[in-house]
Amino acid sequence: MSSLSHKTILLTGATSGIGKELLIVLLEQGANVAFCGRSPEKMEVLKNGLNQFHSTQIYSETFCLSDEHRIIGFVKAAHDHFGKIDILINNAGLNNNRNTLTQLSTTDLDWMMTINFRAPVIFMREAGNIMIAQQEGLVVNILSSVCLFSNEGLGGYTASKAALDAATKVYRKETRKHNIRVLSVYPGGVDTPFRTGERPEYLTAKQVAGVMVNALKTDSAVALDELVLRPMVERNF
Ligand SMILES: NC(=O)c1ccc[n+]([C@@H]2O[C@H](COP(=O)([O-])OP(=O)(O)OC[C@H]3O[C@@H](n4cnc5c(N)ncnc54)[C@H](OP(=O)(O)O)[C@@H]3O)[C@@H](O)[C@H]2O)c1
Repeated sequence: MSSLSHKTILLTGATSGIGKELLIVLLEQGANVAFCGRSPEKMEVLKNGLNQFHSTQIYSETFCLSDEHRIIGFVKAAHDHFGKIDILINNAGLNNNRNTLTQLSTTDLDWMMTINFRAPVIFMREAGNIMIAQQEGLVVNILSSVCLFSNEGLGGYTASKAALDAATKVYRKETRKHNIRVLSVYPGGVDTPFRTGERPEYLTAKQVAGVMVNALKTDSAVALDELVLRPMVERNF
């Protein structure tokens, strides 16, 4: 039996890319997964494609992560449904502007800060308070290798991920006394719809999900704080 069997996991951005592959492998490992996505069409396709064998392991909602009330409601409903929250995975994210900072629109910057930074922080607060009551938990934030180096044309996205990176480091210190582990994941290039075009030389979402599932299985006495994974072709570090 997997160590993830019967764990309750909250997962954002399950309708595409890394989140979709993670959902599939977590269900195969016997975890209960409360997941969300934004697109109703993609959510329907996703749920129709899941093995019916897993139907008792899932709880899902479809909403935009800019809506704080929906986030709070989702965390509460997932907790009510499964009775506990062992792991939170803040995976959803986007890059809607690849201009230089001199060309970056305020609207695009606000949106990336809302989805890539504000939403995960709300999730960390809501799920974190449940984990503090449990005196146990694991929070995983999918950041990006852009937090570790500077790249032209990624200023807005980098700032939003770096803001979450900074908040995650503070949160790790604040919650460790409550036996909550906090893992920051820094992927390099991954070939998903996040990208403007296909990148077959990059990591696959399945490879990233595989690495992450192994990390989630790490003995709870081990504080695995950071995980960096890049495709072998990447040289920008
Ligand atoms: N791909 C890469 O090269 C790469 C590298 C480093 C880090 N990352 C990070 O990895 C994470 C997953 O990315 P991915 O590559 O799997 O991207 P993806 O295939 O584009 O998937 C992104 C997910 O986030 C959800 N999402 C986006 N905006 C949302 C919103 N406003 N409200 C609710 N959900 C929203 C999407 O939902 P819908 O599809 O339903 O809209 C989708 O499920 C992101 O945080 C990304 O920044 C990716």
